[in-house]
Amino acid sequence: MKVFINKRIPEAGIRLLKDANLEIFIPEQENLSYEEWLNYCRSNDAILSVGGEFKFDKDFFNECPNIKAIALFSVGFDRVDIQEADARKIPVGNTPDVLSKAASDVAFLLMQSVARRASYNFEKVKSGNWGDFDPLHALGQELYGKTLGIFGLGRIGYEMAKKSRTAFGMQIIYHNRHHNEEAEKNLGAKYVSFDELIEQSDVLSIHANFKAEQKELFNASVFDRMKKNAIFINTARGGFHHQKDLYAALSEHKIWGAGLDVTNPEPIFKDDPILELSNVCVLPHIGSATEEARNGMAKVAAENIIAFSKGEKMPACVNP
Ligand code: DGY
Repeated sequence: MKVFINKRIPEAGIRLLKDANLEIFIPEQENLSYEEWLNYCRSNDAILSVGGEFKFDKDFFNECPNIKAIALFSVGFDRVDIQEADARKIPVGNTPDVLSKAASDVAFLLMQSVARRASYNFEKVKSGNWGDFDPLHALGQELYGKTLGIFGLGRIGYEMAKKSRTAFGMQIIYHNRHHNEEAEKNLGAKYVSFDELIEQSDVLSIHANFKAEQKELFNASVFDRMKKNAIFINTARGGFHHQKDLYAALSEHKIWGAGLDVTNPEPIFKDDPILELSNVCVLPHIGSATEEARNGMAKVAAENIIAFSKGEKMPACVNP
């Protein structure tokens, strides 16, 4: 079986694929155009897909009828039309669990950075403006005992809730498709409606899998109803929030601040006015960017491909 890998991945995954005697192809050039990417997909049986630029939609499946399996190098699978893959009996694998700690660490980091105004203070230092001790200036807010609202309490949301509960004794509320009994039992998490979530959260953190119908769910009508001291955290997918509405809410101080590891669009434009705001911290989608998580992702993605090559179900399969 021939496997196309569109970007270099950690050696741990490559070794597994080679040990399984699979023929792998990684192009020298990393930034492929859509046409180049399609051509490589056409001449291979499976793709281990790294990065989010191209979609596996109906057009893709029509263009690449030979592709028999897709192993994503990500936990999110929003760029795959799963129904279409199902209809063609193409299994789609992802990489859950191995990045939950790393990804939730970034949400936790952003929550604290925004609460303690890290970006603003770092900019001051960089511009040679350390300043005298001032009892009234650059004050942050403490998170102890505050309410953390989680939208989408799966594996990553659980880790974020656990850290926040342990470190700051935060009260956890959540909105999800299903009740999360483990979080209710272990963390005292309380299931609330979407309206309650946005109105009661001091920190609102998104950890759901993105679906097209949730596009820009977090927009002016939501920001208007959030608390004035609220911190908005998005480390899931940029499509969840309406960037201009978020900018307006932040610049008009309708909410306290925002921490983003994902933006809309992504990458963010260099001149996006949100970058000028002092109550925002933006990172370039680094949720899973640790040695540990990326090695784990490489192994899981390779194991998905290997299982498929043996006619077995992928161990981490998105389709039922
Ligand atoms: C994921 O795994 O989904 C991360 O967001 C990287 O794409």
